[in-house]
Order: sequence, then C-alpha cells, then structure tokens
Amino acid sequence: VIKMTDLDLKGKRVLIREDLNVPVKDGKVTSDARIRASLPTIEHAMKAGARVMLMSHLGRPEEGVFSEADSLAPVAAHLSGLLGKEVRLVRDYLNGVEVAEGEVVLLENVRFNPGEKKDDEALSKQYAALCDIYVMDAFGTAHRAQASTHGAGKFAPVACAGPLLAAELEALGKALDNPKRPLVAIVGGSKVSTKLTVLESLSKVVDQLIVGGGIANTFIAAQGHGVGKSLCENDLIPEAKRLMEAARAKGGDIPVPTDVTVGKAFSESTPATTRKVSDVADDDMIFDVGPDTAASYAELLKKAGTIVWNGPVGVFEFDQFAAGTQAMGEAIAASDAFSIAGGGDTLAAIDKYGLADRISYISTGGGAFLEFLEGKTLPAVAMLEARAKG
Ligand code: 3PG
Repeated sequence: VIKMTDLDLKGKRVLIREDLNVPVKDGKVTSDARIRASLPTIEHAMKAGARVMLMSHLGRPEEGVFSEADSLAPVAAHLSGLLGKEVRLVRDYLNGVEVAEGEVVLLENVRFNPGEKKDDEALSKQYAALCDIYVMDAFGTAHRAQASTHGAGKFAPVACAGPLLAAELEALGKALDNPKRPLVAIVGGSKVSTKLTVLESLSKVVDQLIVGGGIANTFIAAQGHGVGKSLCENDLIPEAKRLMEAARAKGGDIPVPTDVTVGKAFSESTPATTRKVSDVADDDMIFDVGPDTAASYAELLKKAGTIVWNGPVGVFEFDQFAAGTQAMGEAIAASDAFSIAGGGDTLAAIDKYGLADRISYISTGGGAFLEFLEGKTLPAVAMLEARAKG
C-alpha cells in the first residue's frame, strides 16, 4: 500500500479517517487511548503543512439525525488539549470545507450521514471531493466497508495508509505471519460462540492455545466435568472437543483449568471460593481460573517466543475474581516474547494492572483485531492494496 509518510503533503487537502470512537460520559472523554494513538499521524500531517481534515464515527447513531449524545464535540475538545491547538468541529462539510495550511478540523460524526454504513457511492464521492489525499488510519474500523473507511478511498485522487494503520498491520503481521516460536495465543472472554472462528483460525497457526473466561467453561464441560450454574454453551461442546482433538493430533493440547474460583451469583459482593474443577457444585458459577491453573498457564507463557492476547480469563472487574487475569497479564508483561494484545476488555485489564509499557504492541482494534486474527481480509486494507496497484 502507499504510505502517507512517503507523500508530500504541503498545502494539500488531506482527509484522514481515524477511529476516534472512544467512551464519552457527561460530555467528557473517559478513555483516550485511541485519540493518543492517532496523534503521531495528525502531528505529522500538521508539520508537513497539510490542510488537515479528520473524520471518524462515534457510537452507532441513527443515520440522518443529529444527536448531541453522539456528537464528536467532546473528542474535538480533548484533541485540542492534546495537540495544544484548537481543533474546529465542522458540522456541515459535505459540500466543501475551508481549511488553512497547518490547521486541523474535525468533521462531525460520519454516521450522521445517510449512506455511510452502506458504503453509498454518492456519499463516498462527496467525501473524496473534499480532499487531494485520503488517508485511512482507522485500524479499529478497518473491518467495516463503509463510505468513510472504504468508498472514499476508492474515489479520492490519492489513497494511502496512515502511520497508525501501517504500524498495526506490521505488528499483527509480525505476530502471526512469521512469528518467533513458540507462538502462544491466550483467548478469554465470555462466550465460545463469539470467538469460535478466532479459536479455529488461531488453532491452525499457534503452537499453544490457551482458553480462559466463560469460554473455558465449555471446554471444562467437554471434558465431562459439571460446571454448575456457570455460563456454558452446551451446543458448542462438540466444537470444543473437536478443537482439543485437533490440538492433540498435532502433538499438543488445549489445557483445561484444573482449579477454578467460583461464586454463587454474578455480583461484586459474592464470596469467592477456589475448588478443584472436579468439585464444582450445582449452584456454583465459575468466575476465574484458580491459582494452580494460573501458574501452569504462566509457565506456558514464559516459554513463548510470541504471544497474542485477547480476552480476560475471569471476571476481573470484581476483585475477588481478578487474580487469574492479573497473573496472565503479569506473565505476558514479564516475558521476553514479542507480545501483542487487543480488544476492549483486554485493554481495560492492561490499564487496571499498569502493564501497558511492558507489552510489545497494544492494538487499537476490537472487532478489527479479532477479524485480523480470524485471517479475514479487512475491506479498508483491500481497498488500499487495490489503489496501490493502480
Ligand atoms: C470499534 O469500537 O470496534 C470500532 O470503532 C468499530 O465500531 P462499530 O463496531 O460500531 O463499527
């Protein structure tokens, strides 16, 4: 793909699609990781003398209706603070925007525009007409074929990848395409059903797959243990068995927790008890891996050359069920492996335990990170590749 950093941006109208879809509460940005990740791109364009127009979505508003709750105004204010420079929010921009050299404007939420989500051609052409150079930098939205992430790039005079998108693709490629082995993937989260394709595609490329969280419950049940009242997807037990057999056929395994930490209700105050996995009671709910399991998973992580982490292994929001996720995070941080982490809950855990500096690469992608792990082609990347071929 063509890279923004290889182009002369001086005096050019540069339209940059970022993923500034961040949590906002009471008109304030509550977590600005995605905004900070986009700063180097924005600063590069500013310094190069571009006329910078940023575009992003926020939330999932109804198209064609402006709603204050989904306005990018809090993002514009936050970004102004980080850049130390006023970022003007522009509400009406489809017929053209005046931007001075070195100035940065933020175009209001693209999802207010009818046709954005269905990648409408007329809307894509309107976006494209705003600029001389279109920059796709929104890795977090690269799995969406929408007008601002995909169509605009098809029709813009020049379409290129921004530094953040390029860095994400490089880091993920390094982890999965030609990894230092052993490659260990740790996948947690609540449901097998939402991660099944990820588990399947990872199981083909990794040397060791570790499962945790609610996902592990289905694997525990597949081994014939009772899981009490835990979240468990009985209809996916055959899939779990199949994945375990496939791992064994390759001479490995998908380890199943030997001990678990349980409670009686999904609540912040339910007392925690650790039991052997064979001793889970009928009214127990499994909320974390036990200490023996955490120690043995940490051993597996210690031997890794590359680690891919998506999803907590327990309900770490409740402190009595956080030990497993904290132990996994610390084992990953302590390891010399090239480590990559992504997904909203995973990032929240990394923040909670202050691990960010010791993980090699933290992706800004949630759904996009998962689709990359699934081996899917991201439509925005496919578009950039097609444009680079001319
Ligand atoms: C995300 O938060 O995963 C991205 O910003 C994409 O948002 P979407 O799922 O609403 O398309």
